[in-house]
Amino acid sequence: MDGVTVIDHPLVQHKLTIMRKKETSTAGFRRLLREISMLLCYEVTRDLELTLEAIETPLTEMQAPIVEGKKLVFVSILRAGNGLLEGMLELVPSARVSHIGLYRDHDTLQPVEYYFKAPEDLNERLLIVVDPMLATGNSAIAAIEKLKERGARNIRFLCLLAAPEGIRNFQHAHPDVKIYTASIDSHLNEKGYIMPGLGDAGDRMYGTK
Ligand code: URA
Repeated sequence: MDGVTVIDHPLVQHKLTIMRKKETSTAGFRRLLREISMLLCYEVTRDLELTLEAIETPLTEMQAPIVEGKKLVFVSILRAGNGLLEGMLELVPSARVSHIGLYRDHDTLQPVEYYFKAPEDLNERLLIVVDPMLATGNSAIAAIEKLKERGARNIRFLCLLAAPEGIRNFQHAHPDVKIYTASIDSHLNEKGYIMPGLGDAGDRMYGTK
């Protein structure tokens, strides 16, 4: 699928399978999410630009490549996005962080915003927006609209699972934003859940159901 990268690394797929299982505990789910988010982060940042820094090894001087971590912003769509954020910050501790509070109205399936905080100068940064589930796509679309209003131009979207319907909606609204996911599942059910999916990601990571 154009504009979508499926991260099919065996470790990602293995961990995802355990996360999908209904018997996986909250603690297990959370641990796996942290682990998988590091692997996903590795892939979504694979082509980041490097700059050279003059350093000294114990033996000599050299120009060595570094990532400009401060130029990165990880944007978590609350609350489930925080599960992905944690592992990503372990890999890129100097990244800036933005939070967008959106919940999905269970009747209309439309996103309702209740919180927004982001660094200034979004126009100069690469934003990686994270939410484990790209279901209808409505929340991700609304979050990215808001970020674009604030000047963001260079955006990627990272999720664990995506539904084909969500990908279509998302790409219609934001054709410039590449999607990274561990799986494209079959479809959305009548309640807007990804099938076969893993259930409600927020509930599974926080044990709220
Ligand atoms: N959000 C979830 O947490 N799970 C789904 O299947 C769809 C949206």
